Amino acid sequence: MGLGYIGLPTAIIAAKHGVDIVGVDINPSVVEQTNAGHLHIIEPGMEEMLQDVVKSGKLHASTSPEVADAYFMVVPTPFKGDHEPDVSYVEAATRAVIPFLKEGDLYVIESTSPIGTTEMMANIIYNERPELKDKIFIAYCPERVLPGNVIYELVHNDRVIGGLNSASTEKAIEFYSQFVKGTLHKTNARTAEMCKLTENSSRDVQIAFANELSLICDKAGINVWELINLANKHPRVNILQPGCGVGGHCIAVDPYFITADFPAESKLISDAREINNYKAFWCAEKVKNAMLEFELKHHRKPVVAMMGLAFKPNIDDLRESPAKHIVAKVMQSCNNAEILVVEPNVKEHNVFKLTDYKDAYENADIVVFLTAHDPFRTLPWREDKVILDFCGIYKK
Ligand SMILES: NC(=O)c1ccc[n+]([C@@H]2O[C@H](COP(=O)([O-])OP(=O)(O)OC[C@H]3O[C@@H](n4cnc5c(N)ncnc54)[C@H](O)[C@@H]3O)[C@@H](O)[C@H]2O)c1
Repeated sequence: MGLGYIGLPTAIIAAKHGVDIVGVDINPSVVEQTNAGHLHIIEPGMEEMLQDVVKSGKLHASTSPEVADAYFMVVPTPFKGDHEPDVSYVEAATRAVIPFLKEGDLYVIESTSPIGTTEMMANIIYNERPELKDKIFIAYCPERVLPGNVIYELVHNDRVIGGLNSASTEKAIEFYSQFVKGTLHKTNARTAEMCKLTENSSRDVQIAFANELSLICDKAGINVWELINLANKHPRVNILQPGCGVGGHCIAVDPYFITADFPAESKLISDAREINNYKAFWCAEKVKNAMLEFELKHHRKPVVAMMGLAFKPNIDDLRESPAKHIVAKVMQSCNNAEILVVEPNVKEHNVFKLTDYKDAYENADIVVFLTAHDPFRTLPWREDKVILDFCGIYKK
């Protein structure tokens, strides 16, 4: 259930290993493209695999579920309102498969979910189908692949599998063993749910520490990149790199699934979210101040190059990107200054007119590095420009 960035590659890899797959998605265009062997997501090497499994009949897509022996929920889990987790997609997908469930079936949630979601879905299933109580297997198995490297990671990463009982854990392990070569670690559903949230919160907290150091160092007149490099020479210290915030739909989202349910206990996780959000706001203020200073000094408005929109280097994913937020903030208050927006991994954007990175760098008075894309590292440091390097392009 769900043929997106995670569901579709999982379906393809399982089909490639001989499992008969019905890929279900409520988006008819996704279903149509999948059946035509056209990959609607960007994932290197995956389209050829899709064509193979569609041609061999191992995978077909549909807008509604069909009778199967195992059901996997791989639908979005965004947040709503004041950072409250939204499990309505998981519930809708679950309700859609309930009429098809039969004794001995396996039901697994892969979507990143707040603690207790698997139990909640089990209650929904058993309310609708009380005769299935203790006769089906229910488990949670989170995904931790890196988009761009999914073919390798889906097979080789270790996975955590937590059933509502040990029979469910074993049944899920039996399924994943068909294509996972990494170790399958057994636990219970609540621990598995929390494990996924912990992994992403841990990254968020560690990045927040680096971002906090960058704020302190800016005030103290210390180069944060040099500082972290030196501190990391300690054999037991490993500080991450600061940036202009934290983005993407995992690290910037999942910690809220903990803070929403455990507000009193999750102080550090909550502060990390705040620090990482604040860093983007701080960067926007820095750019605005640099623009004002330039105008006072030169009696004209500066040309500003905003370098990068993606949330991390060398990808085209702009979801929850702090860089995009900073560009929007600067543009709102730019007072007719010319802002050149650069994102070399995207051809067109529906809000920003994009400029080639070399042209923008050449023509700008103020250059703001927001995302450390590789091509930016080829640009020489220029003393005649004001350079705001928020992502360590030059580290000097
Ligand atoms: N993308 C990642 O890198 C990543 C990594 C780890 C975990 N996750 C988690 O995996 C889950 C899925 O993420 P994704 O990136 O694949 O999302 P996505 O948005 O790429 O895909 C989700 C798909 O589900 C479909 N869908 C929605 N409701 C449905 C329903 N009721 N029935 C059938 N299909 C339905 C949508 O049309 C969409 O095609 C999320 O919980 C996410 O947090 C994602």
